Amino acid sequence: MTPTAITLRLAEPADARPLALMSRDLIEAGLGWKYDPARIARAIVDPNVTTLVAWEREDRALRQPGGAVGFSIMHFGEERAHLVLLAVRPGYRREGIGQRMIEWLVESALTAGIASLHLELRETNEAARAFYRAQGFTESLRVPGYYSGKEPALRMIRMLRTAGPLPAGWQPPPAGRH
Ligand SMILES: CC(C)(COP(=O)(O)OP(=O)(O)OC[C@H]1O[C@@H](n2cnc3c(N)ncnc32)[C@H](O)[C@@H]1OP(=O)(O)O)[C@@H](O)C(=O)NCCC(=O)NCCS
Repeated sequence: MTPTAITLRLAEPADARPLALMSRDLIEAGLGWKYDPARIARAIVDPNVTTLVAWEREDRALRQPGGAVGFSIMHFGEERAHLVLLAVRPGYRREGIGQRMIEWLVESALTAGIASLHLELRETNEAARAFYRAQGFTESLRVPGYYSGKEPALRMIRMLRTAGPLPAGWQPPPAGRH
């Protein structure tokens, strides 16, 4: 199956549980489960948050109706956007799905006049470090004990424009969609 069989779309309330399970198993393993179905459901309906789902029509491993194979959650502030969670299921990695989600989010952020994108990740997560570097992020800070007082985090940043007033002629995006 080709990567084009995976489509990206905005999440709906019914996606909350599968996305929360991915967060628990692929991102939060060993740290407790903060992004449970209720929290993800709140993110999905929050107008300041974009929650994306990478969706496969047919599950390639189980040969049955598919489901979510990846997801990402980004919170939009005035000038800064925070990439809260992003994951792709193991059997679907290195096919460009993560990159496609970042491209959608960057386009949304540019439209919304965002100046910089921010994220944290576990210092030991070499795969994600390499992934975010490949997406134009640079490491800005190490934060000891960030994860439940146990593990250090790395902060990464990608600048989209110089912070400050928006250029003349900029228009806000349509309401309800980032
Ligand atoms: C990090 C993650 C989201 C990457 O998703 P992905 O869909 O496999 O990434 P892509 O296929 O779009 O990769 C794009 C580029 O990033 C880099 N990259 C991605 N994964 C990499 C890895 N394991 N090692 C080195 N570079 C990597 C490569 O340059 C890659 O391009 P290439 O495949 O042509 O070499 C995925 O590994 C994952 O879900 N990890 C567990 C969850 C996680 O750590 N999330 C981030 C913290 S919230």
